[in-house]
Amino acid sequence: MGIRFNLLRRAGSFPRFFDIIEKIGYNILKVNYMNQNNAPIIEGILKYILEDFKSFHVPGHQGGKEVDGLLKLLLKQPLKADLTEIHGLDNLHAPRGMIREAQEIAAEAFGAAETFFLVNGSTAGLMAMINAVCRPGEKIILPRSAHQGAFGAIITSGAVPVYIPEGFSGSRWEYTNMTVGQIEQALEENPEARAVLVNNPTYFGVCSDLNEIRRITTERGVLLLVDEAHGGHLSFHHGLPAGAAEAGADMWVQSTHKTLGSLTQSAMLHLGGEKVDRQRLKHMLSVFQSTSPSYLLLASLDAARRQMAQKGKELLGNILLLAEEARSRLEQLGFGLIPPKQGEFKLDITKLAFFTDRFRESGEEAAFILRRSGKVEPEMYGKDYILVLLTLGHNEEDLAALINAARSLREWLTLKTFKKKEPEDVSYLHPVSPQLLTPREAVNLPTEIISLDRAAGRISSQMVNIYPPGIPLLVPGEIITSEIIEYILREKNVHPGIESGMEGLNKIIVVK
Ligand SMILES: Cc1ncc(COP(=O)(O)O)c(C=O)c1O
Repeated sequence: MGIRFNLLRRAGSFPRFFDIIEKIGYNILKVNYMNQNNAPIIEGILKYILEDFKSFHVPGHQGGKEVDGLLKLLLKQPLKADLTEIHGLDNLHAPRGMIREAQEIAAEAFGAAETFFLVNGSTAGLMAMINAVCRPGEKIILPRSAHQGAFGAIITSGAVPVYIPEGFSGSRWEYTNMTVGQIEQALEENPEARAVLVNNPTYFGVCSDLNEIRRITTERGVLLLVDEAHGGHLSFHHGLPAGAAEAGADMWVQSTHKTLGSLTQSAMLHLGGEKVDRQRLKHMLSVFQSTSPSYLLLASLDAARRQMAQKGKELLGNILLLAEEARSRLEQLGFGLIPPKQGEFKLDITKLAFFTDRFRESGEEAAFILRRSGKVEPEMYGKDYILVLLTLGHNEEDLAALINAARSLREWLTLKTFKKKEPEDVSYLHPVSPQLLTPREAVNLPTEIISLDRAAGRISSQMVNIYPPGIPLLVPGEIITSEIIEYILREKNVHPGIESGMEGLNKIIVVK
C-alpha cells in the first residue's frame, strides 16, 4: 500500500491529497496489525511475579527457594548455559559422556537399572514407555482417569485400552486409586494383556498397594508400568507410601520438576529390570523427544538428583512435619481431608486437598478468596476442594501464610445448615462414556467437525481435556453422551483449563 502511494506521489499528482489518503489508509489498516512491540508472555510473567503470590503448586523448588547449590551457580548465567548438543557436550539420544554419567548416577539414586533424562516432561516418558511395550492390538490395563499423555501413547501405539473404572464408582473419584482386586479381575478377563499402567500417586496423593500389584503382575507375566509423575520424592523417605522403585516396577516416569528441584518440563524415565526391550525403548525416546534438548533442563535433573542424594531424607522429613501440622490446623478449621490410610490406599500427605463441601460456597469460590485475600496460589481446585502442594521449597513461614489464608477463608465461608443429599455427590463424577472404537481407530477414520450441542450419539475422534489434572473428559472412540456434553458445557464455565482446540469448545471432531 505504502509503495503504491509513493509511486503516485512521485508521479507528482496531488501530493498532499495522497499523503492524507495514505495516513487514513494506514490508520484504518493499522487496526488489523498486531503490535510488534508487545511481548505478551514476558509481560504476563513479569506481572505475575510482581503479584507476589505464595506458591503452593509445582515446580517443587518454589521459585528457587530450595535448589542444589551447583544449579544456583549455573543459573547465574542462564543464557550462557542455554546450550544444546554441540561438540564436547554429549548427546541425549546416544549418550557417551557427561549425560551418560549423570544418568548412571541418577539410576543408582532412584533405584533403577537404567535412567533416561526427559526434556518433554513425563508426557514424553509415557509416550516412549507405552510405545516401547505395546504394539497395535495389544492390550494395556489402565485407569480411565490416567493422564492425557497415556492416551496420546495409546493412540500412537495402537494399543487397546482396558479401563479400570477407578474413581468413578465411589462418591468422589479424588479419593481413590486402582485396587488390587480390580487389577486382578481385569487380568482374569484379559489374560493376554501386555501391561498394567498404575497412576501412583494420583494428583490427590492416593497411592495403590504397588507391592501387591507387582506380585500379581509378576505371577501372570504382565509388565508393570507406573506413571509416577507426582511421586519423584517417594523413594527418599520411609514416611511416604512405597514408590515404583521399591515395588520393583518394570518402568516408571517421574515429573522431577513437579515434586523435586528441577526446572519445569524436565523429567525422568526409569527402567527397572530386563523385561523391557531397551533398544526399542531408546528408539521410542528418540522418536518422542526433541533433537535439541535444553541443557538447562538436563543440568537441572542432574542437580535435583544430587540434592536428593545428599539431603533428600532430611528435606522430606521437614516437609512431612509441615504437612502433619497443616493437616491438623486445617482440620481444626473445619475443612475435610483425605485420610492418611483408607483400606489398601495410603496417602502421600505432601499433597494437601482440603474440602469445602460442608460450606455453602463452592471450591472455585473458596480458591478465589484464597488467592485474592490470602495471596495463596493453589495447585488446583474444583467443585468442592482446593489442592495445595507442599514441596522441598516450603518452610515454616510458608505454612504460617497458608494457615492464615485458610483461617480468613474459613471466616468468609458459611456452614451449610442442611445435610448434603447423596445424589449431589454423583455430580462429582465425570460421566464416562462407553468406548466403541479404539482411540487409534477413532483418530484415523474419516472425521467431520460438528457443534458440540448436536453431537450426542456420535463417536468422538478427539480428546477433550481439563488441565489440571489432565484427565480426558472424552477419549477418541468414546460415544458422546448427552451427560458428557452437559458436563463439558458446565465445566467450561467454571474451569479455566479446559482444552480441546475446538473454537472455545463449541465444536468437536467426530467420526463420520
Ligand atoms: C498423572 C500425570 N501423569 C503425567 C503427567 C505429565 O507430566 P508432565 O507435565 O511432566 O509432562 C501429569 C501432569 O500433570 C500427570 O498429572
